[in-house]
Amino acid sequence: MNLSRKARPADRRLKATLGSAALALMIAVPGCAISGAPESQPAVMEAVEGQTIAAYATALGLKGEARAEYILARMTTAEKLGQLNQMAGGRQLALNSRINEGEYERVCAGGVGSYLHVAGAEFLGELQRVAVEESRLGIPLLFAMDVVHGYRTIFPVPLGIAATFDADDAELSARVAAVEASAAGLHWTFAPMVDIARDARWGRIVEGAGEEPFFGSAMARAQVRGYQGDDLTRSDTIIATAKHFGAYGAGTGGRDYDSADISERTLMDVYLPPFHAAAEEDAASFMVAFNDIGGVPTTANKALLNGLLRSAWNYQGLVVSDWNSVVELIAHGVVETRAEAGALALLASVDMEMTSGIYAADMLAAVEASPDLQAALDASVLRVLRAKERLGLFDTPYAYHDGAREAEVMLSPAHREAALKVAERSMVLLRNDNALLPLKAEPGKVAVIGALAGDARSMIGSWKAQGREGDVVTVVDALRTRLGEANVTYELGAGTREAADPAEIARAVAAAKAADVVILVTGEDYNLSGEARSRSDISLPAPQRALAEAVLAAGKPVVTVLMTGRPLDIGPLDHEGASILVAWFPGVEAGPAVARTLFGDAVPAGRLPASFPRRTGQSPYFIGHYPTGRPADPDLAKDSARYMDIPITPAYAFGQGLSYAAFEYGGLTLSSGTLAPGGRVTISAAVTNTSGVDADEVVQLYVRDPVAQVARPQQELRGFARVAIPAGETRRVAFTLAPEQFAYFAPSGQFEADAGRIDFGIGASSADIRLTGSFRLTAPIVAAGPAAAMATPVTVSEE
Ligand code: NOJ
Repeated sequence: MNLSRKARPADRRLKATLGSAALALMIAVPGCAISGAPESQPAVMEAVEGQTIAAYATALGLKGEARAEYILARMTTAEKLGQLNQMAGGRQLALNSRINEGEYERVCAGGVGSYLHVAGAEFLGELQRVAVEESRLGIPLLFAMDVVHGYRTIFPVPLGIAATFDADDAELSARVAAVEASAAGLHWTFAPMVDIARDARWGRIVEGAGEEPFFGSAMARAQVRGYQGDDLTRSDTIIATAKHFGAYGAGTGGRDYDSADISERTLMDVYLPPFHAAAEEDAASFMVAFNDIGGVPTTANKALLNGLLRSAWNYQGLVVSDWNSVVELIAHGVVETRAEAGALALLASVDMEMTSGIYAADMLAAVEASPDLQAALDASVLRVLRAKERLGLFDTPYAYHDGAREAEVMLSPAHREAALKVAERSMVLLRNDNALLPLKAEPGKVAVIGALAGDARSMIGSWKAQGREGDVVTVVDALRTRLGEANVTYELGAGTREAADPAEIARAVAAAKAADVVILVTGEDYNLSGEARSRSDISLPAPQRALAEAVLAAGKPVVTVLMTGRPLDIGPLDHEGASILVAWFPGVEAGPAVARTLFGDAVPAGRLPASFPRRTGQSPYFIGHYPTGRPADPDLAKDSARYMDIPITPAYAFGQGLSYAAFEYGGLTLSSGTLAPGGRVTISAAVTNTSGVDADEVVQLYVRDPVAQVARPQQELRGFARVAIPAGETRRVAFTLAPEQFAYFAPSGQFEADAGRIDFGIGASSADIRLTGSFRLTAPIVAAGPAAAMATPVTVSEE
């Protein structure tokens, strides 16, 4: 890191502004090894002492689009290409480590538009100062990072946040992350990941909202709102990135980066709706997927990017490549050279190139020779400048570089409290057969068993940003604090990877036998899910399975806390009489959240955002599959669409999750038996908490179109609400639907809904429908966009 820059004598700032017809001449300024403009570019300049082009534009009274266009008109081709260059300023685990003298020179010379893997208000403020005050153009830099589920205050992993089944929790998590990240000098996060994930083998399922496109769209909108707020010029808001545009979650065999060979209908109706929702929510950036769809890498997919995203959806935001995905076009086998790769990506309107450096290093000649590339380049640069305008960086370039604010907001009590609340709300009670949970306040001797119970690193998940293990209150710590050291024995039993040691397992069994109740904390560690962490076998890791079997056989009451970043085949844990709480990776407040839930201070109401298959071989499993001509039939004597060796249902389906309370559903109302074009239908149900425990219920609305031009999914979510219902009270939950919410990608190439019956069901999960009904669409309609991207208004009232 160059600490000497501030100490340098003030540079003699001789900057250039150019006549309208002219191109730029770059002139040397001290401390900035700027070379002259390419000789092919004739240059005319008027020198403006002490001012950059951007400052001059501002002095002329220009703002926003006009200022961006003024600057663009005065950029050299090299500077334009530089503006699209996003450099790694460090590595994920070594932020800023690559910011050296050479990088300052690159910034000075206009060779970079953005850095990722950087952080720190003051450190980045100095880098920004060089861009804004020492470069000829004075264009501010964009600082980016993967702030995925918290910056310093780490929330549950995104799949856990999704399990809250509450868009407000998703928004809150993103808001807190934005407040902290922006205070650390960052303008831009590569989140939310809105990829639909139907295959639990895919490690990145942990980063998204699971399998269901309507649900994923709701979570996408909420997170965009959380990061961006309603005014991106505020210094505590940051640009969100809807990623990874395309069908990244559909990689063959659940393998990361692998080819998606899916139908256009599945792409349009399932994988793209969350992106559509994010675009409508005004997400300022999109990231393209690494993988290809049917052989067309998304980084070069003109039909998808120019045709659909830019034209059909009219998305004018910033599109960034994924890490090296431009140079990887060579490995995909669609180009031979770096310059060809760059040209394909640029022509597909990939604006900013993350890390492969092709735009800046390899494309000058190609661009100068091609009017098409020049036009694409100008359009991309304008989008980058617009993003910087949206953030207000031309007017207040140092708003994100306030060291005092950085010190004040990190891990504040309010942020920790929010993390605790969201972690508690993310817990999913899968089973509680004998009502072992909630535990009695004084449960006697407790044996806490499992390496994960004390594994702070796992509790903060794989995208930990600036999260620190030392910030985490682990499960075992929280239980010791709550119950007293003397009442808790802790045995690791077995790790998550290495072969189980029989002696350690024997110690765990002995501890179990000596206890009144066992809390077994098991599952996968944080590094078994995430990027490039696909698994061919999603059962409990072997040592954990061995430990679980031995501890369960000890014959004591066992409560299982499952830590995981994906749906698992939980094998022996899933037995008659079991109590299982899915805790995901809960973040810095993991321990208190788990303990409060086990002891009933918090009543679990999380729901599964992705189905848990019984076996890996059932993957991909999702509720939205199409019916077949021979629908799955439990009767093995019939030839049907099922496996012979396991039941046709998943172990736990989308939307499932229990409570310590009990709820009854009744009083179904339907505002009309018909739904006409332009009309609305409202469906409501009365939900009563029949228990003595105040609790939340997640009321879910599913629909099905039984006859259409093409087969329609067996179940589609079209509404959900997490509702607090005090003991003994009733709430009426009403969902209002429009005809467009039944449209699908029809053979015509448009989104259409046909006239005819629509069936619906309201219940506590996709596998627990309590009330059913139907109405008729009176006439066919054509919709503007995918049905799953549309939000369903919900009202909750007391009865
Ligand atoms: C690659 C990942 O696919 C993407 O999600 C992430 O934002 C970038 N690396 C930057 O870290």
